[in-house]
Amino acid sequence: MNIKFHIFGCLLGLIVLSLSSCQSSTGNQTGSEYMPDMAHSVAYEANTYGYYYNNRWGTEDELHKMVQPRLPVSGTIARGFAGSSMEQTGRGVPYRANGSVPYYYSDTEEERTKAAAEIIDNPYPITSNGLAEGKLLYNIQCAICHGEKGDGDGYLVRDDGGKYPVQPANFMGDTLTMASNGRYYHAIMYGKNLMGGYADKLSYGERWNVIHYIRSMQAANKKLEYSEKSNTLNKIEIPYAVILSKKEAEAKMHIVHEVKDTLMSKEAHGTGDIHK
Ligand code: HEC
Repeated sequence: MNIKFHIFGCLLGLIVLSLSSCQSSTGNQTGSEYMPDMAHSVAYEANTYGYYYNNRWGTEDELHKMVQPRLPVSGTIARGFAGSSMEQTGRGVPYRANGSVPYYYSDTEEERTKAAAEIIDNPYPITSNGLAEGKLLYNIQCAICHGEKGDGDGYLVRDDGGKYPVQPANFMGDTLTMASNGRYYHAIMYGKNLMGGYADKLSYGERWNVIHYIRSMQAANKKLEYSEKSNTLNKIEIPYAVILSKKEAEAKMHIVHEVKDTLMSKEAHGTGDIHK
């Protein structure tokens, strides 16, 4: 009788325990589970290190490794950062390839003059890929007014075309051939009078490549060269070949310096036999 009573008591205890150990969550309560590890793995929180709280298995060293900030998989490129012209030319601004580069000039005539005076360099070197992209985009976005040759004789203003009420700028004229890159860039950002802006249609890199392409047409018009190999139109944009040869020269100079340093340190240590 006594034993039966005990068994009954134990069973009752177990039932009460199993019922009370699991509480479902309510609005104000997270609830609780019996042996939660079995259903949920321990989450490793990056940047937090609490051996006793987070880790139920493994060594302290293993946990320490697991909570370190994660490095991106090698070769990963952050979204939008497909490249920077700074790597190629050492100038320009680091930019996001999605086109969101700040532009600090506003849409007024005063600021237009300022931009034209202050923006000198094209941050991209002249490359054949860039010129090809520029040509494609120019023909899509600009040629309809400015003409495929850049002479301001686009379809919209020609007799066979439309009724565009004003004359688009002629890029082949001396004024615009001599004009600074800033004048072009500002015109692309905001347009001018009856020309609308193209900031939302061309990304940062695309705008500069369109400008490169316009320069190449100006050079061709004057029988000058404007390509990846050489630029005889002006002294501003740098052909990519020049940058490469500069880099090669620098690399060579680096080797010369290294050899010199080794010889000098040998000499300092009395092991060199130069000068003998
Ligand atoms: C719908 C026609 C049209 C299109 C398309 C167009 N433009 Fe223009 N553009 C004009 C007109 C018109 C002017 C002359 C504005 C003025 O001086 O009143 C002009 C002027 C310019 C100027 C000279 C600005 C200055 O400071 O005098 C530049 C540079 C220019 N456009 C570049 C471009 C580029 C680059 C594209 C393509 C991305 C483009 N335009 C597309 C009509 C157009």
